[in-house]
Amino acid sequence: MKNAAVSINFRNEISKIDKRIYGSFIEHLGRAVYEGIYQPGNPNSDEDGFRKDVIELVKKLNVPIVRYPGGNFVSGYNWEDGVGPKENRPVKLDLAWFTTETNEFGMQEFDKWLEKVGSEMMMAVNLGTRGPDEARNLLEYANFPGGTYWSDLRRSHGKEKPYGIHTWCLGNEMDGPWQMGHKTAYEYARTATETAKLMKWIDPSIELVACGSSNFKMPTFGEWEHTVLREAYEHIDYISMHEYYGNKANDTPSYLAENIGMDRFIKAVIAICDMVKAEKKTDKTINISFDEWNVWYHTKESDELIEHWGRAPHRLEDVYNFEDALLVGGLLITLLKNSDRVKIACLAQLVNVIAPIMSNDETAWAQTIFYPFFHCSEYGRGTALDVDVCCETYDSNKYKGVPYIDSVAVRNDEKREVTVFVLNRSLDDDIEVALDFSENVKPIEHITMAGFGLKDTNTATSCKVVPSSRELKEGSVKLDKASWNVLRYKF
Ligand code: AHR
Repeated sequence: MKNAAVSINFRNEISKIDKRIYGSFIEHLGRAVYEGIYQPGNPNSDEDGFRKDVIELVKKLNVPIVRYPGGNFVSGYNWEDGVGPKENRPVKLDLAWFTTETNEFGMQEFDKWLEKVGSEMMMAVNLGTRGPDEARNLLEYANFPGGTYWSDLRRSHGKEKPYGIHTWCLGNEMDGPWQMGHKTAYEYARTATETAKLMKWIDPSIELVACGSSNFKMPTFGEWEHTVLREAYEHIDYISMHEYYGNKANDTPSYLAENIGMDRFIKAVIAICDMVKAEKKTDKTINISFDEWNVWYHTKESDELIEHWGRAPHRLEDVYNFEDALLVGGLLITLLKNSDRVKIACLAQLVNVIAPIMSNDETAWAQTIFYPFFHCSEYGRGTALDVDVCCETYDSNKYKGVPYIDSVAVRNDEKREVTVFVLNRSLDDDIEVALDFSENVKPIEHITMAGFGLKDTNTATSCKVVPSSRELKEGSVKLDKASWNVLRYKF
């Protein structure tokens, strides 16, 4: 048994948490849309063809915003193909994922589905094969009240009131050679700036996310952000970040420290944002939309074998294990620790495709990573508090001086609750943690995910990797080795 101490001072505020930090993502990819959220004729589907069992699980996650329709898909998408009468919608090739897109599902259906799950749309525009003209048309269709060609077209499609979409992405991963319409930093910076201008002229209330790098390892990282921010600064509100993590080397001590890598990436992007802020001598701060993050590596090789031009193939269907859930907990801690600058974050993705929720023709179930996300979404609303952690550290192959304990707290003033999220990275030792609060608190419960094999998974027929609730006493708490913990208190 090791020992550690965690101090929680109610005045050590990081920031009020933007609820959009618990966002997610649905792309026209694999079985995310078709068979995932939309499966007409399935006995579990409702009158609109939406899977009711999936809706129930999505509601539990309480995602306030869902990014759509991609991802790589958006860079070749004609949004007009997915609106209006279904019988007129064209069947087309999708060159992002080499599938056939029927367009049976588009923004109209997505909007209806979002209403049922109680979430909002975060819409991406195509800056790959298209540009400012289509983006402004889409915005006019979506947000303008009426009396113009595009807004009246929307009304003729049965949507009298505007969609009122607030958060928009200016393309997707435009720095990546795999992207349709891949651009140099300067080419993208100019297109994004001109698109942003037109969009804000139509609806000044919207917020815009410009593409940052596709990941920290991109050879153009840094220069890309600098160029985009120098051009677009006045017209945008956020710069995007994307990163996926994996344990291909089967090196769990390094893997469980990957959120330290996420933290370094975030700090690097903040530094560039603030450098441009200084260069421009402006008061305006650009914040971060970490609009793709998750574990993704289990299916990378097998997906290479999928035949081209199928419909809704089983692609990116990573089956997550217990150690993936631990890392997802750590990544959430890092996002919350940076919630003064990370205002939007999207767990990529939501259903069937690198997702917390899986479905087959019979049922829907929660993968291991569902739970830490659910815990943070449920108990992590309010004000993030920086906590003081005193514990031993270890050296892994990839990261040195890794604290065994990682933690953040969230104070919810409405509910008068404070929740401490804690990851125990030690694979060998339980840790007795002495907790010390600046205010009087009364324990509610200790929710934990612990005691599973690191490679244990949940499947359609057997979901064993689930959290359990324990009694929480005042003072100290024992955290099992390799565990995710949610310590809830009333104040
Ligand atoms: O989420 C899967 C894919 O990962 C997205 O389409 C793309 O943006 C990223 O590379």
